[in-house]
Amino acid sequence: MTKLTDKVAIVTGAGSGMGKAIAIAYANAGAKVVLADVNEQTLAEVEQEITGNGGQVLSCVTDISKEKDIDNLIKATTDKFGSLNILVNNAGIMDSFQVVGNVSNEQWNKVMAIDLEGPFKTARAAIKVMEKQDNGGVIINNASVGGLFGGRGGAVYTIAKHGLVGLTKNIAATYGRFGKIRANAIAPGGVKTNISSTIKQPDPLGGQAVQAAGQPPLGEPEQIAALALFLAGDEASFLNGDIVKADGGWTV
Ligand SMILES: NC(=O)c1ccc[n+]([C@@H]2O[C@H](COP(=O)([O-])OP(=O)(O)OC[C@H]3O[C@@H](n4cnc5c(N)ncnc54)[C@H](O)[C@@H]3O)[C@@H](O)[C@H]2O)c1
Repeated sequence: MTKLTDKVAIVTGAGSGMGKAIAIAYANAGAKVVLADVNEQTLAEVEQEITGNGGQVLSCVTDISKEKDIDNLIKATTDKFGSLNILVNNAGIMDSFQVVGNVSNEQWNKVMAIDLEGPFKTARAAIKVMEKQDNGGVIINNASVGGLFGGRGGAVYTIAKHGLVGLTKNIAATYGRFGKIRANAIAPGGVKTNISSTIKQPDPLGGQAVQAAGQPPLGEPEQIAALALFLAGDEASFLNGDIVKADGGWTV
């Protein structure tokens, strides 16, 4: 079983779904976990669950679409724990399957800000800390099969998640190959979480495309957390720039 003893890990979107499961798995593996989420209440609940099991945790209310919140998150992490070893860019929202012709500027800006720009800026800030550390760091981006295929979400979600895959590969090709910061991504299929609450009135054409992909087998957040734990640990030291699909065979 992977151990993360004394590693410091930030998990964004830690208040729910996969982020919550990843934070708990990391804490159980011995990491000091920084929980970042825009939802203060769920953050407090996850904090209580982890501390109740003897884990070390810091909660940081963070809207990853705001750069000042990201700066505050990184500073709070290093102030409290002195280092940053693992970043899991997990927070994300869906669009409502809008096709290109129906995407409003408002929707574009919102989904891109949370699903791509936020992870980019968080990675940028984390790398500045990690590259000064002897033991570097690990970045894990929670993408989606929507980052690998064209019709697993609306246009903006698809574009943002493809961008997140590109961010992962670029970090891997530079800091991973020639430095000490590995980056990998997870591309989940269908997982039982609260993300469908971010889908409002689905677009008919976009919805048709998503439906044509067929009903995905539904995974548990803990199944993704097990993968995120492996990717964070030393056992995965030769994995760099991989996009690990975890979809129960949906896209096979
Ligand atoms: N559930 C799935 O089927 C599925 C499939 C593929 C990929 N994903 C990806 O997995 C990731 C986690 O989603 P989930 O399914 O666990 O959903 P979820 O809705 O259960 O959890 C997402 C968390 O992110 C938080 N969040 C939303 N906007 C935020 C912001 N601006 N700043 C900080 N936190 C914010 C939410 O408050 C929530 O706690 C997302 O990036 C999502 O795109 C999900």
